Amino acid sequence: MTTVTMSKVAADADDLSVWPASARRLPHGVLAVGGVCLAEIADRFDTPVYVLDEGEVRAHCRAYRDAFPDADVLYAAKAFLSRAVVRWIDEEGLGLDVCSAGELELAVTAGFPADRVVLHGNAKSPHDIEAALRLGVGRIVIDSPSEIARLAAAVGVGTGGAQKVMVRVVPGIMAGGHEKIRTGTEEQKFGLAVSDGSAQHAIARILGLRRLELTGLHCHIGSQITDVKPYVAAVRRMVGLMARIRDTHGVVLPELDMGGGHGIAYRPGEPALDLTALARRLRAELAASCAAAKLPVPRLAIEPGRAVTGPAGVALYRVLAVKRTGERVFVAVDGGMSDNPRPALYGVRYAPRLVGRRSTAEPRTTTVVGRHCEAGDILAADVELPGDIHPGDLLAVPVAGAYQLSMASGYNMVGRPPVVAVHDGTARLLVRRETLADFRRRDIGE
Ligand code: LLP
Repeated sequence: MTTVTMSKVAADADDLSVWPASARRLPHGVLAVGGVCLAEIADRFDTPVYVLDEGEVRAHCRAYRDAFPDADVLYAAKAFLSRAVVRWIDEEGLGLDVCSAGELELAVTAGFPADRVVLHGNAKSPHDIEAALRLGVGRIVIDSPSEIARLAAAVGVGTGGAQKVMVRVVPGIMAGGHEKIRTGTEEQKFGLAVSDGSAQHAIARILGLRRLELTGLHCHIGSQITDVKPYVAAVRRMVGLMARIRDTHGVVLPELDMGGGHGIAYRPGEPALDLTALARRLRAELAASCAAAKLPVPRLAIEPGRAVTGPAGVALYRVLAVKRTGERVFVAVDGGMSDNPRPALYGVRYAPRLVGRRSTAEPRTTTVVGRHCEAGDILAADVELPGDIHPGDLLAVPVAGAYQLSMASGYNMVGRPPVVAVHDGTARLLVRRETLADFRRRDIGE
């Protein structure tokens, strides 16, 4: 019995199903991603370091393009953005969803065509709006009533043309992997609700303004959604609203943006959203609802973030300390909640693994913690890791490419890790490590 359990644990520990497709086991327990040995990356770039598999990012872009050939696929920059990622996304034919002047400027200055960018934000600053208009952003998604007049006035300052806008609608649908990332119902800050008429009211106002051109509706019901059904229900409601707009105003909106939120597996065996099923069911529902409402089928847009870059990232840490406290074994690494706040924020579970050497030691239940001065700085609680893990070992956390570095902080002045791209056997630095000099440079008071 024990033998069976142990061999299952060993098999699980060797499961690479959530790793990039390029992950390969080399002799002596060493692992390579994108043709580059992870231990070599740790030696060359130091740890902690984030590895991004370019081929894996591109493969996810292509999977989206193949599944949604007639739709606009906009990568949600908030998941992770760098100039190289901007280029990959552009070359793969995707658009971009940004939510700040920062993301927008980075993308456009890296050569991304502004007309393929959609700007979001529940509270756009004057700077966001100025940058969007100056750079010629394709669509601005209106998220609050006060934004309408502000935007229309700002558009007037320029060429006198109209800015294309969409309205973010709250369709009243509950979905999403955690309370903090559910955005389809009324009790959260995003969008304008259908249920109380605020979406309809905003739409009527926009239609009366020459300087704003309403191209369609937008919704984003939540994030880390692994079931297709809430999307299908949301499409039905959005088309219902489009039909009411046609009936009330005589306007047929040509676009429908269904947002992102496509869930991925962080650990072997976890569910993920089935992209092909999503594409098929969305298309079918859109066709059926539009036919029933006698509306032409609008052009569909989707905004995946996590599902594009998440599975392509691996976080590499060096073990600094191993400690037994009561019943628990803590393995402390040289990063933590400043580079990955997700376990602390959403209770997300990860599957770290020992890389860089082979261990024949029995697995033991271990809690991987960070180096930050906070007891909640836990990267992975109660995971099975070899019992002989010691300082100097390398631990890798897969599925680290989304919402980790983009949410990283300066906590404890540890500095944010670098990002290294791997592709076809080569590694190159995309984003350098944040150093003490960076902290000092910003600190200009006496
Ligand atoms: N579109 C809009 C308007 C969004 O607000 C988001 C994510 C996306 C698209 C992309 O969603 P995705 O496909 O990546 O799930 N920090 C959280 C996730 C927050 C998502 C915010 N909005 C996390 O680490 O899980």
